[in-house]
Amino acid sequence: MSSLLITNADCVNEGRRFEADVLIRDGRIEAIGADLQARPADAVLDARGRLLIPGMIDDQVHFREPGLTHKADFASESRAAVAGGITSFMEMPNSQPPTLSLERLEAKHARAAEVARANYSFYLGASNDNLDAIRSVHVGQSCGVKVFMGASTGNMLVDDEATLDAIFRDSPLLIATHCEDTPTILANEAEYRARYGEDVPIDAHPSIRSEAACFTSSSLAIALARRHDARLHVLHLTTAKELAQFTPGPVAGKRITAEACVHHLYFDEHDYAEKGTLIKCNPAIKRSEDREALLKALAEDRIDVVATDHAPHTLEEKGQTYFKAPAGLPLVQDALPSLLEHVHNGWLTLEQAVAKTSHAVAECYALEERGYLREGYWADLVLIDLDAPYRVEREQVLAKCGWSPFEGRRLRSRISATLVNGERAFEHGRLNDQVRGQRLRFRRQR
Ligand code: DOR
Repeated sequence: MSSLLITNADCVNEGRRFEADVLIRDGRIEAIGADLQARPADAVLDARGRLLIPGMIDDQVHFREPGLTHKADFASESRAAVAGGITSFMEMPNSQPPTLSLERLEAKHARAAEVARANYSFYLGASNDNLDAIRSVHVGQSCGVKVFMGASTGNMLVDDEATLDAIFRDSPLLIATHCEDTPTILANEAEYRARYGEDVPIDAHPSIRSEAACFTSSSLAIALARRHDARLHVLHLTTAKELAQFTPGPVAGKRITAEACVHHLYFDEHDYAEKGTLIKCNPAIKRSEDREALLKALAEDRIDVVATDHAPHTLEEKGQTYFKAPAGLPLVQDALPSLLEHVHNGWLTLEQAVAKTSHAVAECYALEERGYLREGYWADLVLIDLDAPYRVEREQVLAKCGWSPFEGRRLRSRISATLVNGERAFEHGRLNDQVRGQRLRFRRQR
């Protein structure tokens, strides 16, 4: 492989902002220093005026392979991801067939090794009857066990109490949960159906997928985790009410951590009028008060990680009526710029935005040698123009589904370049399709 010297970068890393040169050799960061310009390198990239941060590690994406490749596939979505500054992804098990066995996990890894432009890992899904697979998975085979404690796309609900208890007792890996109580949702759906028939208005979604549904489920997950001292990561929080259940502070030492997703931080109930079912997702986008509470919880380290929950569906699928339109939005390409809007607006510091998208994710999952600008670590890096506004246009969308919930919105920061394992995967608006990611490695079990 080769070497690359990045000069004059405005680095943001581990709570500090400083100017430095970064020398990359054979995919790793060899040196970070004030003046490395005398060091020989095969190529030089002048980063003056641009931020240099660790690449985003997205711990929640749905890339739809196998089985749903009319919506997305590993190649298409990982291209969109690197254009968005995401250098590693962890992919969800609700493909078809779902990832419920070690064989299917390996098959996903093998496919990603051929086509993924970013580094990758895959969750083992939980069901009411795959406890043996869960018990036998070990570190290196998967980033974690995903438990749908609420039905969503793909029908992978685990609602058998004894099975849930056994998963929390026995899972050798981190447990990542989707928390929405299905009986509460079904009761709400019945009420709205009685009132509106099939024509339920989309702005009822947060009342159907309600705060109570979220709280009932996340409090159960937390109770189970405490009972068994499990390592629990609660995905995509959406309500102010749930936040008191999580402790502020650094990830190190926490057994229970939390994630927020970019769309729940960016959109709120006012956006249903313009976006309709395009922003239907589970859990639902809720009130502006909830959105602001999530942002505050991020700033006080009560929520540890920011991810996307990139969940593409075709425009045709999304254009259906409330009950028929599938939940989920494509997000990876503009996720980081959308998060940086909260930095521009004063909700988060740059250092916090970086910590939530890289350092904290690496700590949560005990990721090896990624997530920081550190000598010896893999050079997963993003260069950002902080003040280079753009309007999101459909023509620029790289996700296979061909649309974005951010269309028409102006975002103030732009991804200028993305390096995956030291290779320029995206630069000057162009993708390098030769680049392939690596399998993510983890230091410990749960
Ligand atoms: O909105 C969502 N879409 N939430 C999920 O839990 C699943 C996802 C999907 O796979 O479409």
